[in-house]
Amino acid sequence: MTTTVNLTPEELAAGQDLEQLKQLVGLVEYDIDKDPFPVTGWDAIVFVSGNATQSALYYQSAWGMQLVAYSGPETGNRDHKSFVLKSGSIRFVINGAVDPDSPLVEHHRKHGDGVVDIALEVPDVDKCIAQARRAGATVVREPEDVTDEHGIVRIAAIATYGETIHTLVDRSRYDGPYLPGYVEQQSSYVPRDGQPKRLFQALDHIVGNVELGKMDEWVEFYNRVMGFVNMAEFIGDDIATDYSALMSKVVANGNHRVKFPLNEPAIAKKKSQIDEYLEFYRGAGAQHLAVATGDIIGTVDALRKNGVEFLDTPDSYYEDAELRARIGEVRVPVEELQSRGILVDRDEDGYLLQIFTKPLGDRPTVFFELIERHGSLGFGKGNFKALFEAIEREQDKRGNL
Ligand SMILES: [Fe+2]
Repeated sequence: MTTTVNLTPEELAAGQDLEQLKQLVGLVEYDIDKDPFPVTGWDAIVFVSGNATQSALYYQSAWGMQLVAYSGPETGNRDHKSFVLKSGSIRFVINGAVDPDSPLVEHHRKHGDGVVDIALEVPDVDKCIAQARRAGATVVREPEDVTDEHGIVRIAAIATYGETIHTLVDRSRYDGPYLPGYVEQQSSYVPRDGQPKRLFQALDHIVGNVELGKMDEWVEFYNRVMGFVNMAEFIGDDIATDYSALMSKVVANGNHRVKFPLNEPAIAKKKSQIDEYLEFYRGAGAQHLAVATGDIIGTVDALRKNGVEFLDTPDSYYEDAELRARIGEVRVPVEELQSRGILVDRDEDGYLLQIFTKPLGDRPTVFFELIERHGSLGFGKGNFKALFEAIEREQDKRGNL
């Protein structure tokens, strides 16, 4: 029996509709009954920051997110501060150590600012953990109920690449602002006049960078442990420039809300961007988060005004006759895209518009992508070469090429 894909409470609260979401992130119907590890969607992306107090303000002022919940010394959490921010159906949690002996201090020393937990919403935590254990995954948190006056959350966690984990959350019996231990919190920050209400609506995919030779192991992990399906495959020459190369495969959960491209470096003349990431992150980790918007032009203009920096795209990209022919008709004139450096890719299903930021923190590790899908379920394969050449120019400026 094929189960109809429904909106999550977060998506309903964000005012999204199903057709819009299918377009925005490529949501599909699938048979949940045959899924050994059913995943509904994203629950939260948890970051470690060297200064969560300031990072939380950055995500509000630069990225237009809203502060909704908080935990810290004032609420009885003496170890760290934790800020919960939302944009549309996306939830970010930014954690920073207060206690000098907090485990977050060592994590941050090693990895810098980055993603520590890609938490997923699941309807049955115990079923997922039983499957994970059967399939040989490492359970880092046994299933437990955590409760407060807002209800009960069933929660557990498994390990994935590097020191990243997937917390599995069933919040169907909970109506608090995030998790027990958090209080509702608002900010006095007021966005600039004229800025769109939200700069992005949903999370499309999160890319994991893994060590040389490990990509297929992690693809197999997501297939075997979590029942994820393989989406698209890019190998070898597809993503090679003169200097660097990488291999990438994409896995997705049954309804395709959760998509994980997995990259590994490939042998090339010089150090690839994946090698640079692995060196500065000290191992495997989340490389970029792609956030979905229905209006990439308005979003990029607002982000630029807020000080967010993007990778440059050379004019030659837009003037290339072959590329122009391949792109065909898109919803805005190519000149509008060119003036903003927005990339276009097309496949048999449609097209997508995308642009990439520079690294968000001090280390050349985590960055964001903005994506506006129009039928295409791809990841911008046709742009990889132009994109990587842009990344290499930045890498060269940092002395890491
Ligand atoms: Fe991407």
